[in-house]
Amino acid sequence: MIRQDAFRLFVASRFIEPVEQAFTSTFSTRFAETREPLAELAGIGAEIDGVVFSLDVPMREAAIAALPASIRVLATYSVGTDHIDLDVARARGIAVFNTPGVLADSVAENAIFLMLGAARRGTEAIDLLRQRAWHGWNPAQLVGVQLAGRTLGILGMGDIGRRIAERARALGMKILYCNRRPLAPELALGAGFRPTVEALVRDVDVLVLACPATEQTRGIVNAELLGQARSGLILVNIARGDLVVDRALIDALQTDRVYAAGLDVFAGEPAIHPEYFDLKNVFMVPHIGSATLEARLGMGQILIDAILAWQRGEVVPNQVC
Ligand code: DGY
Repeated sequence: MIRQDAFRLFVASRFIEPVEQAFTSTFSTRFAETREPLAELAGIGAEIDGVVFSLDVPMREAAIAALPASIRVLATYSVGTDHIDLDVARARGIAVFNTPGVLADSVAENAIFLMLGAARRGTEAIDLLRQRAWHGWNPAQLVGVQLAGRTLGILGMGDIGRRIAERARALGMKILYCNRRPLAPELALGAGFRPTVEALVRDVDVLVLACPATEQTRGIVNAELLGQARSGLILVNIARGDLVVDRALIDALQTDRVYAAGLDVFAGEPAIHPEYFDLKNVFMVPHIGSATLEARLGMGQILIDAILAWQRGEVVPNQVC
């Protein structure tokens, strides 16, 4: 219900119940009633101060242009902001908040899960059992590769990348990373720097994509890059699907140039390139990196804190623009 004495928040996506309750008990909330939240919002008039939404409600130029003039805050329940036209939001003077930090452990755990699932032939192992086709242990069955002793390359050594590095080191892996610039030693955690993704891919057994999707990174994993990779690479994508050229990865998986892939995200999701389903060496999950109770509660709270701090005129650490 919308009250006039509190921040008026339009809740455009659906969230877990405690998060919705937290929004309701803090703000004057109005929940989207249809599957077209942006059309609803455009019809509301000037009653709303801010919108909370997630990747399922893209805020592109036209959507932002159609927002009621009263809207001064866009709070995205995600760390990624590639579903928002930030330039347009900035030009309209709208503050944008996101959810860094609180989901980083969960996303890093998912990266390890995908690495292990890909290395240990998780898809085949699960299929064998679920199809009731396992006839007993034998020494030649489902032989994968171990991670200990192998080298992990992290493309995008930010907060999430560093948490992946910590966990991978505990598994006995050596760590290299590629960022635009080398990190200070206390942030690099002993990982070796490579200045380009080409230099990185030549030296690693497992490549994890942990960078945002930008003009520079979209399609970065293409046939040319995979051609320079060590034979038997394991590729893990926990970032965004459009970092990968699907055709190139599928070709490399079919020919075993890439040993296996662990995929959480897909170009054009929820559509998934149909050939992935036919590849036994693809271990894939439907974009569940931040799907833990801990992360999802934290994501709600950090947005609530951001809006309250912004109302008080304070600097908000997770303000994107
Ligand atoms: C994000 O936060 O950007 C993830 O992709 C979903 O939590």
